[in-house]
Amino acid sequence: MKNIVILISGGGSNMAAIVRAAERDRWAERFGARIAAVISNKADAGGLAIAKAHGIDTAVVPHKDFATREAFDEALAKVVDTHSPGLVVLAGFMRILTPGFVGRYAGRLVNIHPSLLPAFPGLHTHQRAIEAGCKVAGVTVHQVTTELDHGPILAQAVVPVLPDDTAATLAGRVLAQEHLLYPRAIAGWLLDTLSHKP
Ligand code: GAR
Repeated sequence: MKNIVILISGGGSNMAAIVRAAERDRWAERFGARIAAVISNKADAGGLAIAKAHGIDTAVVPHKDFATREAFDEALAKVVDTHSPGLVVLAGFMRILTPGFVGRYAGRLVNIHPSLLPAFPGLHTHQRAIEAGCKVAGVTVHQVTTELDHGPILAQAVVPVLPDDTAATLAGRVLAQEHLLYPRAIAGWLLDTLSHKP
């Protein structure tokens, strides 16, 4: 069985979409894969309750308890490793990971970013897309490398930017696509149909 560990920091709507897809599309039977755990760096992350409601193991590793990024990542990796992950999924996990952590899960660490990478890595992507006059925006699922919001692209979806969009309305349109794209990209990864999978 391939264990999937999902890291979140907040509401966890992407995580919930993945969990729903795994149940609906019977990933355990069809791909031999299960969501083994959801881990947050914040105790108040809303996604933790959703994961628990689906009977998934949860854990919290509060980044504030650690003096350095390295110490936090080491503690996080210890918890992640208790679930023997075949795939580690960042789903709104808002911490920059150290090269040590990224290297440890090389080739089995994926992220979702709410822009059409390589455009707009980092924060405030929707506002920046509107200010740049973009006519389209979107979302990218990519493998994680040591460079923030870079790494081989696994899947993308595009949405229009409408004339009276605010960052919030654009974010909502992009998020709806995230919920479709991320489960599909992970299913592709499990089925080995993604061109950039090592
Ligand atoms: C999503 O829009 C995700 O793409 C973004 O945070 C949101 C999390 O929402 N991630 C990043 O910006 C990472 N750079 P969720 O907690 O409801 O899934």
